[in-house]
Amino acid sequence: MLSRRQQHCLQGIGIPLWRERSSASRPEAEETRDIGDRPRFSETEKQGLSPNSLPAVSAPPKETALDGWDAILDSIRTCTACELAQNCTQKVPGIGNRKARLMIIGEGPGHEEDIRGEPFVGRSGQLLDRMLRAIGIEREQVYITNIVKCRPPNNRDPKSEEAQQCRRYLEAQIEQIEPRIILSVGRVSAHNLLGSNQPVGKLIQQMHQLPGTEIPLKVTYHPAYLLRNPSAKAIAWQDLKLVHQLLQ
Ligand code: URA
Repeated sequence: MLSRRQQHCLQGIGIPLWRERSSASRPEAEETRDIGDRPRFSETEKQGLSPNSLPAVSAPPKETALDGWDAILDSIRTCTACELAQNCTQKVPGIGNRKARLMIIGEGPGHEEDIRGEPFVGRSGQLLDRMLRAIGIEREQVYITNIVKCRPPNNRDPKSEEAQQCRRYLEAQIEQIEPRIILSVGRVSAHNLLGSNQPVGKLIQQMHQLPGTEIPLKVTYHPAYLLRNPSAKAIAWQDLKLVHQLLQ
């Protein structure tokens, strides 16, 4: 039974109140691209500025122990381990409650995020905020980050070697936060976290654990995908309700 507040929130994210999961039509196309609302070119690209003045790609500073937030954030900010660092405006390490019970992991910063240095602040982020509010959670209560901390140029998917280079940062963040549950949003996030290449539509059908840990991991659709495929919102709502239950 939905409270009036939840009903209000659901209407806000565009979910018809009568829709049950069983009757919710599955979106026709499998999630293929997550960042539908990202403009394809950054300001730098539009202005034709050369990235040559930026630091060259070099070996990752593996010797730095990522044993606290200062070390993690410093290492991310100075990282030049892959070509993404050369093309982004700034690093987007993550934001939120460093002792959050819920950690949300997306794919990588988009245009808005690259400009503002904060994950999920564009249209997808606004939908994510509304979805969280629908289960009574404010953005400030969770920790939000991405598989890669630099914006992939031209909105392409992060390459697996780029995700691999960034992995130690994500692992260090998870180690610090010790979340009770991870919500993995979208295909790129789920595939990287689970080491799977199954379709998101399949991965969302069961609970997972982050490999090598006992942290429960729920996969759901990426908000950018939901913006393009509103019929999938009813499924995402079920995912969020499950996350909410597990947090109790
Ligand atoms: N999409 C993501 O996966 N992450 C962001 O930070 C923004 C959009």
